[in-house]
Amino acid sequence: MEISTHQEPFIYVNDKRYEITRDCDPEMSLNDFLRDTLNLKGTKVMCREAGCGCCTVCAVYKHPATGEIESKPVNSCVTPLYSAAGWHIVTIEGIGGRSQSAGYHPIQASLADGFGSQCGYCSPGFVMSAYSQLRDNPKATKLEVEHFFDGNICRCTGYRPILDSMKSFACDAGKAGGCLEVEA
Ligand code: FES
Ligand code: FES
Repeated sequence: MEISTHQEPFIYVNDKRYEITRDCDPEMSLNDFLRDTLNLKGTKVMCREAGCGCCTVCAVYKHPATGEIESKPVNSCVTPLYSAAGWHIVTIEGIGGRSQSAGYHPIQASLADGFGSQCGYCSPGFVMSAYSQLRDNPKATKLEVEHFFDGNICRCTGYRPILDSMKSFACDAGKAGGCLEVEA
């Protein structure tokens, strides 16, 4: 996975590099860039104020102090595109899908199989929150997994099936074989 060490006018999205051109609107958000410029509509948008989490994507970057590669969920609606220069962004399209040879990512499949999605508008945000945090902490406990979703709101399914689906990835979920590998 390509990650830049310096602030450069480039951004990586799902393993492709894109230039952030000089004529780019300085107020353009990462969400605008993903949805309107790259036509990646799997990342949703609703409140535009970091309140609902439906716009969550995974940002992979090198920590400036430790040099460690980290991944964190970010609200793309309030992330200026320029501030994401040098990051590698992973969107819901980047981890799996119906038309992809590898099929759905285990987190996507678990949410669907566990009846954790009705209208589906919140689902990419929940999946990308889990994906981002399990990349950093693959041995998360059920309690830690529950805290992954402090910034995600679902309006129609209810949280029990969502949390049950997501907690299946926790190390103390009682599965034979321990942690499930989610970083495909
Ligand atoms: S659109 Fe609601 S948090 Fe970004
Ligand atoms: S499934 Fe409809 S908002 Fe969550």
